[in-house]
Amino acid sequence: MKHTDIKEVLTNPAYKGQQVTVCGWVRTARNSKNVAFIELNDGTSLKHLQIVIDKANDIEYENALRLGASIRVEGTVVEARQDAVEINASSIEVIGDCPLDYPLQKKRHTLEFLRTMPHLRGRTNTFNAVLRVRSVLAESIHRYFQNRNYVYINTPLITGSDCEGAGEMFQVTTIGYSQDYKNEEEYCADDFFGRKAGLSVSGQLEGEMAAMALGKIYTFGPSFRAENSNTPKHLAEFWHVEPEVAFAELPDVIEMAEDMLKTVIRELLDTCRAEMQFFDDHFEKGIIDRLEDLISHDFGVVTYTEAIKLLEESGEDFVYPVSWGCDLQTEHERYIAEKVFKKAVFVTDYPKEIKSFYMKQNPDGKTVAAVDLLVPGVGEIIGGSEREADYDKLVASMNERGMNLDLYSDYLDLRKFGSVPHGGFGLGFERLIMYVTGVSNIRDVTLYPRTVGNIR
Ligand code: 4AD
Repeated sequence: MKHTDIKEVLTNPAYKGQQVTVCGWVRTARNSKNVAFIELNDGTSLKHLQIVIDKANDIEYENALRLGASIRVEGTVVEARQDAVEINASSIEVIGDCPLDYPLQKKRHTLEFLRTMPHLRGRTNTFNAVLRVRSVLAESIHRYFQNRNYVYINTPLITGSDCEGAGEMFQVTTIGYSQDYKNEEEYCADDFFGRKAGLSVSGQLEGEMAAMALGKIYTFGPSFRAENSNTPKHLAEFWHVEPEVAFAELPDVIEMAEDMLKTVIRELLDTCRAEMQFFDDHFEKGIIDRLEDLISHDFGVVTYTEAIKLLEESGEDFVYPVSWGCDLQTEHERYIAEKVFKKAVFVTDYPKEIKSFYMKQNPDGKTVAAVDLLVPGVGEIIGGSEREADYDKLVASMNERGMNLDLYSDYLDLRKFGSVPHGGFGLGFERLIMYVTGVSNIRDVTLYPRTVGNIR
């Protein structure tokens, strides 16, 4: 179907005075005595294009005034008020009629209502803006790494090892469990891969293998977590950006994370002005200034031990009590980022007991070279570390956790054959989208959210 994108018509002055064909869905329509107006959107732009129908021109238009109908319009691009353009229609064709039970009749629907119709919510301004910000940020992230000699790696989604060791993997199986199997091992031996397999919670372990060959790599793909966390910031399937760098220590990882975030947020503010203004107007007043502020200052850095002290001395009445050794909950993370630092802050050097087996052990014997990035409004958006590069220390840490070393023989080999200090992090892509848009529920920044008890 030959037609011009509405974004082009709205933004390229060369179209003024030209005859064009545009297609789209009717967002609103007004019918008065001599003229009818349609606000048309084809998804290429947050802004709608106004179609003006002069009734003197004998144009068939009645069915085209229905909300949600898809139409094709031919007409001339003319100047309208406030530097805008509109189309004086010469002909209109209804491509797909839309009956009155079309659910998106109101100007603004609640996000909860829209969650019940993921197949239609893309046609609202909110999802038009969210999905474009997602797309622009994804491209920026790729460009950031590609411009700096990182190789984009696709790590396997089906895996035989649970990266985080946290036992929150979805199992992959082609046979149902039967009482005839004596135990789980026998059942798995009979299954597709001949041993237990699951959906990857992180591409990190394979990413480390690639970094030990290519130096600097990143992954950008889905991760799956079967954790029963019915919260506004957990998905069972989320997109994960995981750079991994050889010849790097914890401060290098922190520097890379800060630089990457600042670069992609700068590009977002420059590229998605209309979308960011929309979020500023409708979701979080002042979000543009807040992001401008974020990228023009250094992020905070604090050790876990210092953070615990700040929390203990806060006088706040936290739901989860605080003491050295506890995992930081969202309420603690937000207090540190929002009340103490009032900006993004890296928390480093966590107790080894609450972090994964692969993190570099610090000389104090109690903490590991881990880092989380906490941001106001969301809490943790990045988790990373320097990795343990010493074979004996890594084996000791795995034994302490009762892990099966045979499942990690490839990983251990990396510490035998030319081991180097290395590290990386994982950025939850949806959490980044929440942070930059001010949308407070992760279910509203992805097309089809997968959460506990919810799949369609
Ligand atoms: O802190 P996490 O668990 O770290 C890892 O997976 C490491 N292997 C990453 C690495 O070093 N390469 O997860 C990293 C980030 C979190 O900070 C969070 O932003 C996001 O992934 N994340 C989730 N996002 C949405 N829903 C979930 N259930 C998430 N779990 C983690």
